[in-house]
Parts: sequence; C-alpha cells; structure tokens
Amino acid sequence: MREIKILIVVIFFTLVTYWGVEPFAHSQMHKHIESENFEYKDLSEVEKGDVAKGKDLVMANCTACHSIKAANMPAPMDPLTSAQSYGVNPPDLSNAGAIFEDKYLAAFISDPAKAAHVAHKFTPESGRSYPMPSYNWMPKEDIANIVAYLKSIASKEVTPKEAFVTACGRCHAARYDGRVLGEKWTQIGQKSKFKFEKDSLAYDIKVLEYQDALTKYMGKLPPDLSIIIRARSEHFLQTFVEDPQRVLHGTAMPRVGLTEEGFEKVMQHLENIGDPSKPVRDKLGINFLIYMVIFALFAVLWKKSVWKKLH
Ligand code: HEC
Ligand code: HEC
Repeated sequence: MREIKILIVVIFFTLVTYWGVEPFAHSQMHKHIESENFEYKDLSEVEKGDVAKGKDLVMANCTACHSIKAANMPAPMDPLTSAQSYGVNPPDLSNAGAIFEDKYLAAFISDPAKAAHVAHKFTPESGRSYPMPSYNWMPKEDIANIVAYLKSIASKEVTPKEAFVTACGRCHAARYDGRVLGEKWTQIGQKSKFKFEKDSLAYDIKVLEYQDALTKYMGKLPPDLSIIIRARSEHFLQTFVEDPQRVLHGTAMPRVGLTEEGFEKVMQHLENIGDPSKPVRDKLGINFLIYMVIFALFAVLWKKSVWKKLH
C-alpha cells in the first residue's frame, strides 16, 4: 500500500513537471514570435514607376558599385577589392526586383541603414557610415522608377541558388554547396575544384582576406549556412530573416527584405545543400507505409488461418 502511495506521488509530480513547468519555462525563455508573412507593415507602398526613366537613374547612380549582369554591366571591382572598400561586396542587382519586396527596395534606396534595421550601428557618434549612400534626396517618383526598372530586368525564374547568392551569399559561406564535386560556396563566389593545390590555396587566401574585411564591417563573421536547416526550425529561420532584430535583439545580421517567394527559394537552396538526402527519405517514408499496409494484411490473413485450425 505504501509503495502505491509513493508511486502516485511520483507520477503526480512527474506529470506536473512535464505539462506545467517545462512548457512554461520554454515559453518564457523562447518567446513565441509570430511571422508577419513578409508584409513589412512599417514601410509604405510604392507607386508604379517608369522603366525607361528608372534605367537612366540606375546607370547613373548604382553601377559605380553594383554589377548588373542582366544589363551587361560588369562589376567595377572584384569581390575582394569591393569588400576592402565597403566591408562587403555589393550584390549583383539582376534579380533584386524579383526577390526583394518593392516597398523594401524603395525604403532601402532611400535610407539603407534604416530599412535594414542597422541604423543603430551607424550613428553620427559612431563615426561610421553605411557603405551605400542614402538616396533620400531623390523624389519619391524617381525611386519608384528605379524599382520599376529593377523589376523589369529580373528573371521570372530565379533559381534557389541565385536567390541565395543575391540575398545571403555576400556574407554567408556554404561549404557543403557542391561538396560532391569538390566545390563550395564562399563569399567571393563558387570555389570550383582546382587542378593545382597552389591555385586552390591562393583562392582560399582571398576568401580569408574577404572574411577579414567582412568581420571588421559586421563585428563578427557570419556563420556558414550549410547545415543551418538542421540546426534551426523553419519558423526560426523565417522570423529571423524577416526581421533579425525582433528575434535576436542586437544581432549583427541586417534585415534583407525578401518577398515570401524569395524566402522560400532561399530555404529551398538551404535544404538542397544541408539535407540533400531529404527527397530520398521522403520517398522512403511512402515506401515504408506501403510495406506496413501489406504487412498488416498478411498478419490478419495469418491470424485468421491460425484461428481456423483451432475452432
Ligand atoms: C557606394 C557604393 C554603392 C552605391 C552607389 C549603391 N550601392 Fe547598393 N549596396 C552597396 C553595398 C556595399 C551593399 C551591401 C551592404 C550590406 O550588405 O551591408 C549594397 C546593397 C544593396 C542592395 C541589397 C539590399 C539588401 O537588403 O540585401 C540593394 C537592393 C542595393 N544595394 C541597391 C542599390 C541601388 C538601386 C543603387 C542605386 C540607386 C545602389 N544600390 C547604389 C553599395 C552601393
Ligand atoms: C550583410 C551581411 C549579411 C547578409 C546579407 C545576411 N546575413 Fe545572416 N548573418 C549575418 C551576421 C553578421 C550574422 C551573425 C549574427 C549574430 O550572431 O549576431 C548572421 C547570422 C545568421 C544566422 C544565424 C542565426 C542563429 O543564431 O542561428 C542565420 C540563420 C542567417 N544569418 C541567415 C541568413 C540568410 C538566410 C540570409 C539571406 C536571406 C542572410 N543571413 C543574409 C550577416 C548577414
């Protein structure tokens, strides 16, 4: 009798801890953050702009730093020299109009540090200024024209890799990207397999120098994203990319302003490199279910045949 009483008490407290204390502590330590579905409610809508006027404005204002492959505009500098000048290599703008939200693009052109939620790092007292100038002197219509032009040149079929490169690739490496081919993604580009060790090392040195400049600019080296898909939930990644400051106050990562579709493409790429066996596993799951159904069928038939003999 005494043992049973003790058992009941133990079970009672175990259940209280299991259902009461642990989830409560979890909810306190990891506040649940709702996704805002990439709506950027803090930013204002953009009027429809004029593509031809936008083109002139982009050619006059943006190509001094950004390449635009879709318009045959080459990069003014190689990625390493860019990073040594700006802290980071400005992304190619070919697909910016497809993966970034219109409102965000307009707000970013007008005041990049504010749009990216990193203005606190570039205050007048800090003595630092954001590497991309603010075009807040431009009339609103001209900014809308730039957005219209960027949208007009963007590919309708941006691949997951292109979305990643434009949105994340200047800061984050991905050493498993192309691993089977002996390749990897680095902040200065896709490192292919070199025939000579000497060339491979020369490339790695450039990557290290780029990372030095980037670390100085960001305050820390952005982590490699190869297996982030396994370390973090999709919910975390979505809310973090949507607005890093809201999830991790004081983080060095800027808001990048992706559309929902752009984010899904980036996630697809992260899944492709971080979990390349997922399609195989998903298929295995279905095969396993089919196996279970057939097995159950045989088990029932067998049971029937056994019992028939007994009756
Ligand atoms: C003086 C160089 C410079 C000029 C001129 C410049 N940019 Fe940039 N731009 C940068 C740098 C550097 C970055 C990356 C900053 C970062 O990631 O911290 C950047 C980032 C961007 C991004 C990425 C935004 C994001 O959230 O990922 C877009 C879009 C962009 N620029 C558009 C433009 C447009 C449009 C113009 C012309 C109106 C322009 N830039 C002019 C240097 C420049
Ligand atoms: C201008 C540079 C920059 C860009 C662009 C950028 N990041 Fe980051 N990111 C950082 C830095 C710096 C950190 C480290 C933040 C910290 O620890 O405070 C970081 C951290 C992260 C983390 C780690 C969060 C954690 O705590 O586990 C994830 C995930 C991430 N970034 C995803 C992305 C994705 C996805 C993109 C593209 C959509 C992207 N980042 C674009 C600079 C960048």
